Amino acid sequence: MRHLLNPLDLSVEELTNVLDLAADIEKNPDKYREVCKHKKLATLFYEPSTRTRLSFESAMINLGGSVIGFSSADSSSASKGESVADTIRVISCYADICAMRHPKEGAPTVAAEFSRIPVINAGDGGHQHPTQTLTDLMTIRSLKGRLDNLTIGFCGDLKFGRTVHSLISALVRHKNIKFILISPEELKIPDHIREDVLIANNIPFEEVTTLDDSLADLDILYMTRVQKERFFNEEEYIRLKDCYILTKEKMEKANENMLILHPLPRVNEISVEIDDDPRAVYFKQVQYGVYVRMALIMTLLGLHV
Ligand code: NCD
Repeated sequence: MRHLLNPLDLSVEELTNVLDLAADIEKNPDKYREVCKHKKLATLFYEPSTRTRLSFESAMINLGGSVIGFSSADSSSASKGESVADTIRVISCYADICAMRHPKEGAPTVAAEFSRIPVINAGDGGHQHPTQTLTDLMTIRSLKGRLDNLTIGFCGDLKFGRTVHSLISALVRHKNIKFILISPEELKIPDHIREDVLIANNIPFEEVTTLDDSLADLDILYMTRVQKERFFNEEEYIRLKDCYILTKEKMEKANENMLILHPLPRVNEISVEIDDDPRAVYFKQVQYGVYVRMALIMTLLGLHV
């Protein structure tokens, strides 16, 4: 049985197959309308979500399957003190596959140990978010035509941003990738990403504090929100929350082919005046998220058309 807990759980070849399948789903959605008939997806969300949960649900429904689940810890037996291990044993009796989001890092990994169905990590604390990574990779591959030879800027909360950790970990497997990591001192990428992922793989990267100077060199700018819910100290959050705001004026300095990605939700970090810029692809990214989750569900369930 396969789970997706970390982006590296899929080899590059498997990842390519998932992205190829997602691209075919995009072109021929009707072909896949009944693939998951009589199958159930459980969405176990112990933390807020709009896109991830609803894109999973939409993906399963598009495949002809159905969906059960809960969207907050308060409405599940977690509020009575049930462990993740017990909950997943129970859910294994109800569903064929599940997607779990949890504030504790590693919770989906614990779930996978006790599960009889594939577990998909839909975000665990400030750790990883592998299905957002699949979404990001599909967006980049579809709109840039490649996953290699790229200079990618990550901007904002690189410390707590799990989407950043997962996407960096996945991209270092491709050739000629360079990163510019733009964040305030307090929100730099964690040491384990810097050392075990970037330095260990000999990946060129720079850590800088200003956005403006790097814009001209980037193929992709991955903007992120400052992760309010991970701060211990509200004052610190307030001080840092608007550290970068991408404006029309700043975009004049950017490369004309640079794509702006954002996992969303956006708070203030991208001015709405940029939404009409053809380089702003964060809403297209949302659509790719559905195709790629359809492909992932099929892959983990071993289903084909
Ligand atoms: C991200 C997340 O939950 O980590 N959202 C998402 O799943 N698209 C990013 C965020 O919350 O900032």
